Amino acid sequence: MRNLDEETITQAVLARHADMPNGRMKEIMTSLVQHLHAFAREVHLTEAEWAEGIKFLTEVGHTCTSSRQEFILLSDTLGLSTLVTAQNHKKPRGCTEATVFGPFYVDDAPEYELGADVANGMTGEPCYVSGKVKSVTGEAVPNARLEVWQADSEGFYDVQQAGLDGHQGRGTLTADERGGFHFKSIVAECYPIPHDGPVGRMLDAMGRHPWRPAHLHFMISAPGFETLITHVFREGGEYLDSDAVFGVRSSLIGDWVRHEAGTAPDGTSSATPFYTLDFDFILNPAPAAPAPSRR
Ligand code: BEZ
Ligand code: FE
Repeated sequence: MRNLDEETITQAVLARHADMPNGRMKEIMTSLVQHLHAFAREVHLTEAEWAEGIKFLTEVGHTCTSSRQEFILLSDTLGLSTLVTAQNHKKPRGCTEATVFGPFYVDDAPEYELGADVANGMTGEPCYVSGKVKSVTGEAVPNARLEVWQADSEGFYDVQQAGLDGHQGRGTLTADERGGFHFKSIVAECYPIPHDGPVGRMLDAMGRHPWRPAHLHFMISAPGFETLITHVFREGGEYLDSDAVFGVRSSLIGDWVRHEAGTAPDGTSSATPFYTLDFDFILNPAPAAPAPSRR
């Protein structure tokens, strides 16, 4: 194949895909090439602009470390994460909606008893969180595993703080037989996504802010149910309508109630004001396993 030009290059690339052994990869790469070429044609991409694009993607890669995932930030801020989440988690009416995962989950958070303080020394106003895990028909889902994680009052997750000894603001709990759970933490505040790297500069150049509304992350799993990755947002907070990563869903906004100093839900006496959040989660049944194929 020679003498390819603006008109013939796309088909020439696609012709090379003819014998791709993996059918799904062929589908994805064919579509990717078609859309990339269409994009370059539509905006009439110049060489200088594409060089700038390659420089940007290189910087995104160089910014990634074991505790900083700049490609997730790029996917999130371009709305791609929300699109992929939405099209993969269509649920029956009434189920708790999923939202973006974000880059700050860790899979070895400490296990806590119900009622424990998962803040574990993280700074912020105390918040007592409770709720139930239920099925879409209203029955309790017993013993669901809840993983929770959140930023501190300054907007930083523990993994963003160098030299922190141990996990703060995250934990794993097991709901009781009736699906109930409760734990203590700190009240969530709005915070900017990490914006001191190429994605932050991109947002700035586009006239966009990096802020997320206050939220608490949950990942909830139980046998027979689809794992739920979601947040609970704070009613009345800032940025609910301009989340930098497009993650807000009305059904996920909870009422975080402020209380004056006094007796807290765990029976202790709180010398400072505190918050409570009561929020139930409705899990979607796991998709049925495909029937064994007949011969
Ligand atoms: C988060 O909520 O932790 C998050 C989500 C997307 C990008 C950055 C942070
Ligand atoms: Fe977050």
